[in-house]
Amino acid sequence: MERNLALEVVRVTEAAALSSARWMGVGNEKAADQSAVDAMRRAFEAVPFCGTVVIGEGERDEAPMLFIGERIGSGDGPELDVALDPLEGTTIVAQGRANAMSVVAITETGGFLHAPDTTMDKIAVGPKAKGAVDLSLSPEQNLRNIADAMKCYVEDLTVVILDRPRHTELIRAVREVGARIKLIQDGDVSAAIATGFPETGVDVLMGIGGAPEGVLAAAALQCLGGDMQGRLKARNDHEVERARRMGIKDIDRIYRIGDLAKGNDIMFAATGVTDGDLLRGVRFFGGGARTHSVAMRYRSGTVRFIEATHRFDRKPVY
Ligand code: FBP
Repeated sequence: MERNLALEVVRVTEAAALSSARWMGVGNEKAADQSAVDAMRRAFEAVPFCGTVVIGEGERDEAPMLFIGERIGSGDGPELDVALDPLEGTTIVAQGRANAMSVVAITETGGFLHAPDTTMDKIAVGPKAKGAVDLSLSPEQNLRNIADAMKCYVEDLTVVILDRPRHTELIRAVREVGARIKLIQDGDVSAAIATGFPETGVDVLMGIGGAPEGVLAAAALQCLGGDMQGRLKARNDHEVERARRMGIKDIDRIYRIGDLAKGNDIMFAATGVTDGDLLRGVRFFGGGARTHSVAMRYRSGTVRFIEATHRFDRKPVY
């Protein structure tokens, strides 16, 4: 992949973040999401590549833009697959909470699992615990293995879990083994990525969240040298059928990180929409705004944090 592309893609997540951040706290999830989608779609037109959306806003009949299979980019340059979420955390933005971001991951054709729009059981960790996660084991055993790998006590670990009734048993198990828990309202992509940055204080992500979000998190963790496993959890027969249509033969399969996202040219970019563990949200001021983004490449292992000041008298107004 062209080295510059990684930085070009940050412009795309910045545009989506700037646009959707205007909707912070307004209580309108749909409008927040739509503004991110519109801005991202427009910004992609200037990126010099031939992209195909494999993780997007939904199937063609349900999403007018950035749907699965849509061709994006300038139409000039390498053929690449794209996983995206213009606004990861629509409810977060609507309510003005923490950890909403705009996210794009890119890899070579065929490098991302074509994850259906269902849920996925996930376990994610940073580089120190690479090789220590196994979804076929109990949460207790996983946490003991992770603590061993990180050379700490289980009691030192902080586990992020989405605050949902379906996680009552998981929360009980984590408490019993002695790890600390941080419950979040939404935004498990951000939590998964946080495991790759010790300064966030997040060690493990566990529990069931969106399956497409699992692929985005895996792309970021590949760049960071972290680890992750996922297992689809279809909520009904319709979702099982949808998974089959998308080529999933064994719905109970445990996907390793390389099954979720692979390729030497994986690249990941995210821009904060609201303040989060890793990224600051968009700050508006008279005549402009500041954004905070991260861009990573698997091949080089480079992780760049980019602070940008946008002048609306010279650029589009968001
Ligand atoms: P959206 O941006 O689509 O609202 O996703 C937010 C999110 O919290 C994800 O981070 C997470 O994977 C998923 O929703 C959890 O789904 P559910 O709300 O159904 O538990």
